[in-house]
Amino acid sequence: MISRLWAKFSKSSPRPAAQPQSGNVPKHVAVIMDGNGRWAKDRGLPRIAGHHSGMKAVKRITMAADRLGVEYLTLYAFSTENWKRPKDEVDFLMKLPQQFLEIEIDDLMEKNVQVRVMGHREDLPSFTIKALDEAMSKTANNTGLVLTFALNYGSRKEMLEAIKEIAADVQEGRLTCDQIDDHVMSSHLLTRDLPDPDLLIRTSGELRLSNFMLWQLAYSEMWFTDVYWPEFSETHFEEAVQEYQRRARRYGGL
Ligand code: IPE
Ligand code: IPE
Ligand code: MG
Repeated sequence: MISRLWAKFSKSSPRPAAQPQSGNVPKHVAVIMDGNGRWAKDRGLPRIAGHHSGMKAVKRITMAADRLGVEYLTLYAFSTENWKRPKDEVDFLMKLPQQFLEIEIDDLMEKNVQVRVMGHREDLPSFTIKALDEAMSKTANNTGLVLTFALNYGSRKEMLEAIKEIAADVQEGRLTCDQIDDHVMSSHLLTRDLPDPDLLIRTSGELRLSNFMLWQLAYSEMWFTDVYWPEFSETHFEEAVQEYQRRARRYGGL
């Protein structure tokens, strides 16, 4: 029904602003922002130009998510495997949070957005940590959209660390093996303060998780697009949300 309505709407230009239903908006949307390098390559530009352009998409999609009433937006910005890339590219990526936050912090404040970061801090340069810490403390009391950057994040590392903590709890008598359940595991993950994602979006045509939130995505709806991240628009985001609204989530039931 909605798709037919949408098709009808989209024939009459210009395309209307977000039309997803007001109810049933995914509470938590997670995004694997992929395709910056290929976007740049197609234009004869260096890969870093793609990352620079991707930063604008981050702003665009943050605002779109906020406007639609999404409560949590989690963006995969740098994986524990991305250190394998050339040093120049990694150096550029490490400077992006500072650049992004310098430019956007006022707008984020105005929109009441709370900035958070999840990942393994220890390997990040101090200037990156400083910029993120400043943004987190400045926005800590904001009550709107929770915007989490997954930076130097890797799901297997996250789970291994959780398992080690749980094992230590058992070893030291704070917990018995029988008490280990979903809740105990979730509460030891970096996402302990976030609900599981309702919707996962990956851009650029790749159909894989690349070590992103393997535990948390167990029952998330997935939406893939060939569009490269720098070109991912509000309309694409709305399409993903609309598609989510058409899905029947069964969680193994009927
Ligand atoms: C996503 O774009 C950004 C990061 C992984 C940091 P890519 O840099 O992976 O772009 P492609 O996949 O090479 O096109
Ligand atoms: C996943 O993209 C990581 C981020 C988007 C930050 P990659 O480009 O690193 O993933 P692979 O290597 O194609 O699986
Ligand atoms: Mg990629």
